[in-house]
Amino acid sequence: MNVEESGQLKLVEKHPRAIRWMHWVNFPVLFIMIWSGLLIYWGDSIPPYQHPHEVYRVGIGSWTWFRLFPDWFWKLLNAPYQITTGLGWHFLVMWIFGINGIAYVAYLLISGEWRVLWPQKSSVRDAVWVTLYDMHLPFARRKGLPPQGKYNGAQRIAYSAVVLMGGASLVTGLAIYKPTQAHWFTTLLGGYEMARWEHFWLTMGFCGFFLVHVGQVALAGWNNFRSMVSGYEVKKVASD
Ligand code: HEM
Repeated sequence: MNVEESGQLKLVEKHPRAIRWMHWVNFPVLFIMIWSGLLIYWGDSIPPYQHPHEVYRVGIGSWTWFRLFPDWFWKLLNAPYQITTGLGWHFLVMWIFGINGIAYVAYLLISGEWRVLWPQKSSVRDAVWVTLYDMHLPFARRKGLPPQGKYNGAQRIAYSAVVLMGGASLVTGLAIYKPTQAHWFTTLLGGYEMARWEHFWLTMGFCGFFLVHVGQVALAGWNNFRSMVSGYEVKKVASD
């Protein structure tokens, strides 16, 4: 009889309390930062404020593939002429975002939890492998999943990247918040317009991360989600 068959169900601690708190605080905070950022983005165009989505586009040179975002999106968001609401929320909640992020990184470093999060030498190879496996490709399915600890290679890369992106958002945000006082900083980031562009695309990166992350959490199932709420997951362990 193998372990799976003979095993007992046990509650095993997975996520420390501090991580769970900071993770869930980050969720509404990031949501407000993105929403208020979009209100600012809409307002940040030349009067008569008709084409805010002209500012950011995807294309090469004068050729434009698409512009962000369609009109219905702005109307749905009730974005027009709400720049002051956006600025107010953005400049208030950025403090919580910054303090929570710095506390999270400090906790990772002090507790040693960074070891389960930071990519290892094998992470890129494992990430490709896990992705092919998740795509249900027959040869990857035959090979099975690579051995993993708390997080697999793809998770290590994604989670570390999103933490770095948080830091980059703070830095680029500071460069466009105080371009005079922090002028050396703004220059270092390529100038005001460049820092604005970087700040915006980091936000799009968060949105991309969010969609994939929530999708993966949904696929991983209830036991995994619950562990980020309660700290414990139900595991099968060998009976004595
Ligand atoms: C708002 C943006 C979010 C960001 C930036 C984010 C980021 C992260 C990070 C960095 C981790 C690793 C935490 C650690 O162990 O130190 C994590 C884990 C996790 N997150 Fe999120 N998260 C977000 C939203 C969400 C949402 C909305 C859900 C639920 C639907 C969720 C569910 C989870 C779960 C269940 C884990 C644990 C995964 C595992 O144990 O395999 N997250 N998240």
